[in-house]
Amino acid sequence: MPFALEPHMDTVAEIKQKLDIASVIGEYLELKKAGMNFRARCPFHHEKTPSFFVSPDRQSFHCFGCGEGGDMFSFIQKIEGVEFPEALRLLAQKAGVTIERFDPRIASQKNRLVDVCEEAAKFWQANLKKDIGKKANEYITRRKIKPETILEFKIGYAPDSWDATMKHLLAQKFNESEIFKAGFTVQKENTTSYYDRFRDRLMFPILDVHGNVIGFSGRTLKADEQAKYINTPESPIYHKGKVLYGLDKAKLAIRELGHVIVVEGNMDALTAQEAGYRHTVACSGTALTTEQIQLLKRYTNNIALCFDADEAGQNAARRSIDLLFAAEMNVKIVKVKSGKDPDECIKNSLADWEESLRSAKLAMDFYLDSYLTAENLQNINKKKLAVKNVLTEIAKLADKIEQDHWIKKLAEIINVKSDLLWEALRPTTKKSTVQSGGSAFAVVMPKSAVQSNMEKVFTILLNEPKLIPYVVEHLLPEMVTVEKLVTFYTKLISCYNKNKPQIHAENITKLLEAENQPLPPEYLDYLILLIGKEYDGFTEVQLREELIDLVLAIKLDYFNRQIELHRQRLEQASSAGDTAQEQEAQRLVQWFSEEKARVQS
Ligand code: CTP
Ligand code: MN
Repeated sequence: MPFALEPHMDTVAEIKQKLDIASVIGEYLELKKAGMNFRARCPFHHEKTPSFFVSPDRQSFHCFGCGEGGDMFSFIQKIEGVEFPEALRLLAQKAGVTIERFDPRIASQKNRLVDVCEEAAKFWQANLKKDIGKKANEYITRRKIKPETILEFKIGYAPDSWDATMKHLLAQKFNESEIFKAGFTVQKENTTSYYDRFRDRLMFPILDVHGNVIGFSGRTLKADEQAKYINTPESPIYHKGKVLYGLDKAKLAIRELGHVIVVEGNMDALTAQEAGYRHTVACSGTALTTEQIQLLKRYTNNIALCFDADEAGQNAARRSIDLLFAAEMNVKIVKVKSGKDPDECIKNSLADWEESLRSAKLAMDFYLDSYLTAENLQNINKKKLAVKNVLTEIAKLADKIEQDHWIKKLAEIINVKSDLLWEALRPTTKKSTVQSGGSAFAVVMPKSAVQSNMEKVFTILLNEPKLIPYVVEHLLPEMVTVEKLVTFYTKLISCYNKNKPQIHAENITKLLEAENQPLPPEYLDYLILLIGKEYDGFTEVQLREELIDLVLAIKLDYFNRQIELHRQRLEQASSAGDTAQEQEAQRLVQWFSEEKARVQS
């Protein structure tokens, strides 16, 4: 073949070559360097101290708390709650590897539905360039949205027709059922025919955090229309409570600036981002959900809420604050200085908006101000209720020191002793039931002491191969007594003997693979990464000391077992009257007891 450039590289391998697991996982978690590896709090179970490790060398991760582990594909599957085809599509996109829409490897319903959405967005965007888009363009001008913003947010126009969108999508080889499932059509009552859901509306695509179009919000162009917005219903790919409008564009700015502004309306987020407040997202008119908070927590712990001043907005703010406190986020409340929402405020006066952000209040100050109004403080009954309300909020704080701060402040405002307030607080104090971090614990099998000691020995050896000779000299494979680890140990010894001068922590696993080491790769990952969990910050000397202790413990355990075993043999032999056996067993009991005493001294 004259044109054969290089053998066809498997897509998965190509993606793995182009992406680094640490940066893939780093988009979801804050990774801290731990020796050659990274460490973080596990996203798959609730924990206070990090036991989740990522190995750039092995391109794998493992959690010592819940036992989850694998490569970048399994990480994406697990954290996004998707199957392999979706993970492949997502990582291919990140890696800049193109996969055809019809490629069977990414054939899945969810991927198809995202494709329908992307196609609809394109179709609607194109309409803005046509005559039928005139009215929509006038509306855009009236609302002063810049042309660049229209392009960036992929805004379009759904024509005033009962089937134009549906027909277009059918012509693009999507079937009726997919178009319906993605939310573009409504089924006519008692029939099997469909009509377009979005008609004569300005269409705002809703993108997931990776930038995939997964749904839409359609705004009417009329001032008096009943339904101002019509949205994609819940679908296999669109869950209102799990997305934040604009996050795909805001995420980097949020990380950089260290905080996020959350507004209610999609228009508010769009206008704020357009005005340079890139770190703004919208929760689309409802209180924040736990899922949205977890999504934000990937990027920051600091949040400024800027909800509308009306009752609905204030209630949504309160509910959001509760969940944010439970998730241990730092919360500020922004009140717009002019206009009814951030969009109006920004368009009205950028200085007002700046000022609004500057005078953001801590959430608890917001509660103090909104409950302890002059009017409430004048009437004893109202005052009691107001104080109770504030105490309820203070009780929700996870941190005692923070609670103390607010108790003192409250005591000052209402002029009572803090002790009294602490007493009043106690009965309302109850631990939050909200758990940050999703799924249930994976079951971890309890391990024998020998096994876990042996795993510690191996993690030290795999990370400090220099220490192998000590172990080889002092620990016989038969002393290990966990079958798969005995074989592994034997391979480790022969690998060491063959490669002595060239063996390093960096290449030891490759050399072991060449020996056909018997452990599954995930278990090997586990053994290598265990060092970070058990011996973070240990020096080589400390590791050596630890190793000596471990070897001793394993040996003693072995001797104890042998003594016990031969004692049993001895009893059996003596009751069977087998003198030869009896003497032999007696000799072994004696021998192992002496060995035990020797290593102990
Ligand atoms: N919303 C909705 N359905 C409605 C009204 C509102 O889904 N009938 C959601 C939309 O996501 C909207 C958000 O709630 O973005 C906030 O609503 P609102 O404040 O009324 O909208 P604005 O963003 O101010 O929209 P506009 O400025 O275009 O009036
Ligand atoms: Mn508005």
